[in-house]
Amino acid sequence: MSEWVALCAERDRAALRAALLGVDPGASLELVGSADALRGAIAEAVPGELCALVGPSADGVSPVNLAAAIVSDGGARTVALAERGVTGSLRSRAARAGIDLVIDLDAAIGTGDGGRPVSPVVPAPPPRPVAIDVAGPRAPLVVMCSGRGGVGKTSIVATAAAHAALWGLDVCAVDLDLACGNLFSCFGLSGGSDLSRLSAVGSISPEVAEGMRVTAHPGLSVVGPCDRPETSELAAARAGELLSALATSCDLLLVDTSPTFTDAVAQAAQLADRLVIVSDGGPGATAALARTSGLAVRLGVARTRIARIENRANPREHADLSTGRAEVGLETARVFRTFEGGLETEDLLASGRAIDLAESGSPFSDSVASALAQMLAELGRLPDAEGARRAAGGEPRWHRGLFGLRREAR
Ligand SMILES: Nc1ncnc2c1ncn2[C@@H]1O[C@H](COP(=O)(O)OP(=O)(O)OP(=O)(O)O)[C@@H](O)[C@H]1O
Ligand SMILES: [Mg+2]
Repeated sequence: MSEWVALCAERDRAALRAALLGVDPGASLELVGSADALRGAIAEAVPGELCALVGPSADGVSPVNLAAAIVSDGGARTVALAERGVTGSLRSRAARAGIDLVIDLDAAIGTGDGGRPVSPVVPAPPPRPVAIDVAGPRAPLVVMCSGRGGVGKTSIVATAAAHAALWGLDVCAVDLDLACGNLFSCFGLSGGSDLSRLSAVGSISPEVAEGMRVTAHPGLSVVGPCDRPETSELAAARAGELLSALATSCDLLLVDTSPTFTDAVAQAAQLADRLVIVSDGGPGATAALARTSGLAVRLGVARTRIARIENRANPREHADLSTGRAEVGLETARVFRTFEGGLETEDLLASGRAIDLAESGSPFSDSVASALAQMLAELGRLPDAEGARRAAGGEPRWHRGLFGLRREAR
């Protein structure tokens, strides 16, 4: 159960309460009367104790600006924004501001005749994706998420997918950063597949899902995002169903996400065999980790399925992965490090050469391979390939020799 403090206009309070219980069934909610009171309540609480929820406001303050201010104040465990008629551009703004969750009050409670909102008598249940059919063999699903933008999710997904393809797997890299995703560009593609097309499909069969795969390299295809940001809403509701269908037709599903926990990300998180929270040690990293892990747990993701990646780590420093673990509630989560790859990594990815990056044997590339191989080994799905077995042997070690940085022999 989480304690939420919220600001919301009188007329929307019932809808807000119902929507919150849909996302966090055990939530306790206290409403305050002004933006200052909301920020004050968070400031006075123990950091990480309270969650903030900003609804349609009568206070004259723009809700998204207020939520963004609360994110930058720090201290809130989760910052959520609830609005009516949420648009793609609002979600993008919220993502850029580091807001964890955007709730569409209209979608959450439905609308009655004449567009008047109808509050359900029973609070809406949390979004439950279609369960992946576990009867047959299905691909492991690894989802990268973060509470902040620019930490390296897309770079890690692209590099991991390239390694998996080189190990002989049929890998599908799915871009659930529906409005702003650029995963396809890491493979030199000019676009992905437009997931908003799914809104016109009755049920997503394996054949329909297969049709969304754009081949980037032998054994590697990209799915998503949406061609136009404003259509991302259309695809969001189908994300779980899509992943379930894709899982029956490939060997590995790697999912890239937006920095904000949208509905699509929540569905992927609930289905994931490994939900990997990526952070980069920059300012605010611990708070973002705490917010993201708290939200994942409230969405019902078992802690045993949550892992962490510390990106941009220094390969010459010994790992100190204890920092922040207790505060973020992930004491038991497996932590991997992926190394700083410098301008060469950025250039290769920006020029669409993720495959070359995977073949380069650089510290970043090798550390991503190692993290992926270890996760697959834990899931009992390590491919029978020399490169995969070597990568599963543990974090590669690097030392500075006469001729620059060199990998140590194992
Ligand atoms: N380990 C690394 N070494 C060098 N450059 C990196 C590393 N990780 C990420 N980058 C670079 O940092 C930038 C941001 O990375 P990336 O786009 O993967 O982050 P992201 O989490 O997907 O961002 P967003 O949340 O905006 O989607 C990119 O230019 C990428 O090439
Ligand atoms: Mg990205």
